[in-house]
Amino acid sequence: MDQRDNKRRQHKKKFGKFGGGRAGEPRPAGKAAAAGPKVATAWQRDAEWYDQIIGDEGGEYHRNVVLPGAMRLLGVQAGQHVLDVACGQGVLCRLLHKAGAEVIGVDASPKLIELARQRSDPAITYLVGDARDPSRLPAGHFHAAACILAAQNINPLAPAFEGVARCLAEGGRFVIVMMHPCFRGPKYTAWGWEGNDTQFRRVDRYLLPRKEPIVTHPGASPDKYTWTFHRPIQGYVKPLARAGLLVDAIEEWPSHKTSEPGPRAKAENSARKEIPLFLALRAVKMPGYSTPKTTDDLSEVSG
Ligand SMILES: C[S@@+](CC[C@H](N)C(=O)[O-])C[C@H]1O[C@@H](n2cnc3c(N)ncnc32)[C@H](O)[C@@H]1O
Repeated sequence: MDQRDNKRRQHKKKFGKFGGGRAGEPRPAGKAAAAGPKVATAWQRDAEWYDQIIGDEGGEYHRNVVLPGAMRLLGVQAGQHVLDVACGQGVLCRLLHKAGAEVIGVDASPKLIELARQRSDPAITYLVGDARDPSRLPAGHFHAAACILAAQNINPLAPAFEGVARCLAEGGRFVIVMMHPCFRGPKYTAWGWEGNDTQFRRVDRYLLPRKEPIVTHPGASPDKYTWTFHRPIQGYVKPLARAGLLVDAIEEWPSHKTSEPGPRAKAENSARKEIPLFLALRAVKMPGYSTPKTTDDLSEVSG
């Protein structure tokens, strides 16, 4: 038995049946059960392609914007326990491990988890599991948790946030990074121009939650898609608060890119700086705090 197998055996013992009865298979519970395998399958299918574009250290946006921002907001210290929800092939987990954290990554795609293990130090624990059913992870164990570019793939969201809240220690931080829902909502937002001097972002739909198909791998399988779930910002803050996670930071991050010289470069650079690409939220676990459920729930997408 090599070091990796040994480490995995230790964690299997420690975290018991997380991820389901059969080793490596997600086992969503209750309401989540119906939607679970569908979500997992979409990323499962394009796992190798996704792994190639992300690599060991992340794609361009990961390296320049998302990961540095997430690490700063997480503020993890050596020795702290950190959970990465929907970790994909482990790009954030590796960075957290380098910073000295004890890291567990969870993802619904067994293939991405396998690729994460191949790319990572065996000290990082990777588990196959559904973010909407993290009930088997230890309560109050983690100093911090993250969900990077994945909240918009998860529906319903409330059980995932409740699960994170349960796993966090008091005062633990939860950082979520997503495409900015105001300006980058799927299908109904787009760039436009007034002459060569003004580039604007057109937003046709924002407030009502909806789901849209997105092609995960446009090159190889343009006919195959997964769902992305659009919610307004309050659709994140409300279920966080309901789970006892109080938002203490909102950041809006623009793209790091600049245009090649040309007649529209100035306007493009200016629009890029004004209209953010990503939204980051940080919420802190406040013991005893939770807002009551209301009827105007803009976090869950039906249908
Ligand atoms: C765009 S990828 C992001 C992965 C990673 N966080 C990153 O930054 O590279 C979205 C991920 O969400 C995972 N995912 C989607 N629904 C999930 C669920 N219900 N539970 C756990 N993971 C899920 C997918 O398997 C996929 O790895």
